[in-house]
Amino acid sequence: MSRVLVTGGAGFIGSHLVDHLIKAGHRVIIIDDLSSGSRQNLNKKAKFIKQKVQHQTMPGIFKANKVDFVFHLAAQIKLQFSKKYPAEDAETNIIGSLRVLDAARQAKVKKLIFFSSAAVYNIQDKPLNKETDIILPEIPYGIAKHAVEQYIIKSGLKYSILRPSNVYGSRQGAFGEGGVVAIFCSQAAKNRASVINNTGHQTRDFIHVSDIAAGALKTINMAHNQVINLSTARETTINELYDLIYSLVAKKIKPIRGVYLDEQYRSALNNKLAKKRLNWQPRMLLAEGLKETYNWFIKKYE
Ligand SMILES: NC(=O)c1ccc[n+]([C@@H]2O[C@H](COP(=O)([O-])OP(=O)(O)OC[C@H]3O[C@@H](n4cnc5c(N)ncnc54)[C@H](O)[C@@H]3O)[C@@H](O)[C@H]2O)c1
Repeated sequence: MSRVLVTGGAGFIGSHLVDHLIKAGHRVIIIDDLSSGSRQNLNKKAKFIKQKVQHQTMPGIFKANKVDFVFHLAAQIKLQFSKKYPAEDAETNIIGSLRVLDAARQAKVKKLIFFSSAAVYNIQDKPLNKETDIILPEIPYGIAKHAVEQYIIKSGLKYSILRPSNVYGSRQGAFGEGGVVAIFCSQAAKNRASVINNTGHQTRDFIHVSDIAAGALKTINMAHNQVINLSTARETTINELYDLIYSLVAKKIKPIRGVYLDEQYRSALNNKLAKKRLNWQPRMLLAEGLKETYNWFIKKYE
């Protein structure tokens, strides 16, 4: 049994990861400022500390809790926000990450696992992006993620850097810049149509949060000092996604055709390295995962 600190453990992915860690027998400490996460997501068996990761008390918290492993997920995740307010984005996503890294080093943790993003890749590249592809982030969110990857690689600490594709599942935020699956499922659960921007032919690589948590859990003992994509390596168009989700609704609801948005056209990540280094593969079928997510939103609104 290890002592594992999870930043962002009250959030969507972080809370699922905490559940997996506790199930595997680890003792978990969560640091989260609840800016987008929620108390409802907190696993009761975890110790919760409400704190911003950029706060100077971080080294003290790490030492007091005798942390063995750190999963760093706390982040500002809104892409458009990062374009408009790059300094605010960098405050959490760069400075906050550097405080976590510094605290991890001071506390001599055994390993730091960082949640990076597919946003570090060049959006002009055709799928499937590989870990060895040229890194050319387009927006501040991706620039910050890439900067932190570099700080970690050069830190001397043992690490794994994970680049998940589009993660979906229960507990994901459905407001503002929430994930498209969460937005569609939340609208469908209320018997309302969703907006499809652009042609709907744009693609994403949707991976269920349970597969991400299972892959991340394995990095405690594997894939040391590696940068690894976690993905399904499959493209699904937004039109297909709409049809899959709305096939779960009793009555037929047509999409609302939206506006032109300047966004990546195709996105999917190669997952061969994850399969090899983590002896892992995504298990959840998209149709099954969408059904589970839709049912979660139905229950939420009951
Ligand atoms: N959701 C995806 O598709 C996806 C894909 C790739 C990478 N990621 C990365 O995974 C991580 C988790 O993302 P998520 O989708 O679960 O988002 P989320 O917003 O649900 O989780 C982020 C958590 O961090 C907390 N937080 C934010 N700023 C903080 C701060 N300054 N100090 C302490 N806590 C803070 C929030 O309250 C929240 O609980 C992020 O690092 C994100 O960049 C997500």
